[in-house]
Amino acid sequence: MPTDAHAASTPASPLDALALLRERFGDAARGAFPGTALPEPVVAASANAKFGDFQCNSAMAYAKVLGQPPRQVALALVEHVKLDDLAEPLGPASVAGPGFLNITLKPAWIERALTTLAVPAAQLGLTPDATMPHTVVDLCGVNLAKQMHIGHLRATVIGDTIARVLERLGGPDRVIRQNHVGDWGLPIAMVTAKLLALEAAGEVNLAAITIDQLDAIYKRAKGECDANVGAIRAAAAWGMGPKVIAELEEAAHDPLVALTHAKTTLVRLQSGDAGVRRVWQRIYDVTMAACIENCARLNSIVKPRHSAGESSYEAKLAPLVARLEASGVAELSAGALIVRLDELGIAEPCIVRKSDGGFIYATTDLAAIEHRVRTLGAGRVVYCVDARQALHFRQVFAAAHKAGIVPAEVSLEHAAFGTILGEDGRPFKSRSGESVRLGEVIDEAVARADAQVLARNPQMPDTQRAEVAKAVAIAAIRYTDLASERVKDYVFSLERMVKFEGDTGPYLLYALARVGSILRNAAEPASGAPSPHAAALAAALAPGGSFMITEPGEKALAMALLRYPQAVREVARTLEPHRLCACLYELAGAFSGFFESCPVLKAPSEQAKSARLRLCVLTQRVMTDGLGLLGIPTVERM
Ligand code: ARG
Repeated sequence: MPTDAHAASTPASPLDALALLRERFGDAARGAFPGTALPEPVVAASANAKFGDFQCNSAMAYAKVLGQPPRQVALALVEHVKLDDLAEPLGPASVAGPGFLNITLKPAWIERALTTLAVPAAQLGLTPDATMPHTVVDLCGVNLAKQMHIGHLRATVIGDTIARVLERLGGPDRVIRQNHVGDWGLPIAMVTAKLLALEAAGEVNLAAITIDQLDAIYKRAKGECDANVGAIRAAAAWGMGPKVIAELEEAAHDPLVALTHAKTTLVRLQSGDAGVRRVWQRIYDVTMAACIENCARLNSIVKPRHSAGESSYEAKLAPLVARLEASGVAELSAGALIVRLDELGIAEPCIVRKSDGGFIYATTDLAAIEHRVRTLGAGRVVYCVDARQALHFRQVFAAAHKAGIVPAEVSLEHAAFGTILGEDGRPFKSRSGESVRLGEVIDEAVARADAQVLARNPQMPDTQRAEVAKAVAIAAIRYTDLASERVKDYVFSLERMVKFEGDTGPYLLYALARVGSILRNAAEPASGAPSPHAAALAAALAPGGSFMITEPGEKALAMALLRYPQAVREVARTLEPHRLCACLYELAGAFSGFFESCPVLKAPSEQAKSARLRLCVLTQRVMTDGLGLLGIPTVERM
């Protein structure tokens, strides 16, 4: 059974008022109604400031369970809840309507919490978590001889973001990125065989071959082999005997040669034949160079040292399977070796060796799990892989636990993601029906971003605009991918993604640039004259200085800032980056509300000016940190 040691809810951050209130009202409910199992309390931010900052709405639901009038339940909660440090005292007057509880935070609590968030500067409320298990993040997962296409975007972007978040919390040495490259097996042998043949015929120059050519050759080889398989299957379906089929397999016409050739090439590859190995290595190098380049363009940290291809587990497969068989965990079924999982609620067994003696994808994944846990020391392994592989991972995780390949407390988690759809609601394809190349998508995003920046900022020098356009494009692509709920499909629309307004990456970059420009103006007015704000700014930048929250706009911004550490921890627990995206989007909105309602440089007093500048500084730091976790490069101006 896939263990999920991290499913328990994250303990409330001392900075997150909402989480604290839920905790306090939970305690109050247990105190007021001991012995009755009540659901977790519902606390929400108030939609209207006249009802306070938060509302606890559970009295009505509890009243039903308890068979008491809601108002009486609300009063009992008021009596038991401990909020002294956090909120204005509650009394009968705090109960509204049938039993809503209105809660107003104490400004002093908010100000203290902001100081805790701001110092020490590098932490932003995220104290390093020394208990975090070493975590392997399986990401990217490209296959040899294939161009990276849109299907690899999510594995690369979500995986990288999860790794960044875990590194932020546990430290960089707690996270091990693993790119499980599909570099082994019959498909790779097909293209290797084809390439050997083309090279022998003088049709390709291996030294100069490109990933595009490899991709085309791969498709051709696969097409030919599929045709063979089709011909053989058809012969079998027509009831022809094995002799006929064997003859067909050996027949001298080209398509049939392809499959046979691929199979013998696989054998040669597996036995370490130098000639085959040379071609395979070339395919590997060309594919990986393109992969690393695409990842770099996406600002995902995926380097050669993170590659752990399927081939690296080759030597471990036979001994592993032999162990499974000897221990009785695996059993023969119709010639294949399988691990039954029905007692774990999975009807389909995990096949570890096919009837022809070959190992499969699952076998390699079992060996990889063993390596990750026993050699790399992982206590948690996270797979950022398409949701369509859900059954595969359930089987592999269950088999790994059943076979004792990993201790029970190791958490194996599939961070499954949905499909990227085209505007027609079907999986995103190019007009010709092919997968869309990732490089092309990035190019187009950069072009669109460049046009936008040019329209808004015609005076910006070309080199700077090129930099900004790149950042905007990456922000657009990454943010959209990360902000959609991970398991859901989403529609890929570059037009919408690169917009500067709405819930987009460029909007967040823009919000950050705006904060930066306020701070630049405070330091150095456009006129070039000495800044009249120098003293207020210095006070705002002084470490450990205090905050001052009086206006609703300041309060809303403060509350958005304080939610940050909890949002980051939630991502680590749930592996759902959209929680951080939502937090940053709300922060950007709260900042713009603050900026409209609370003049900063024209604040009513020097003290207010410096307090507001301090909020700007903190906003800038939180947004920079958050965008960094999302892997979005930031820019000063746009
Ligand atoms: N290469 C695989 C594919 O294209 C993805 C690898 C995912 N990781 C894993 N450990 N199976 O489907």
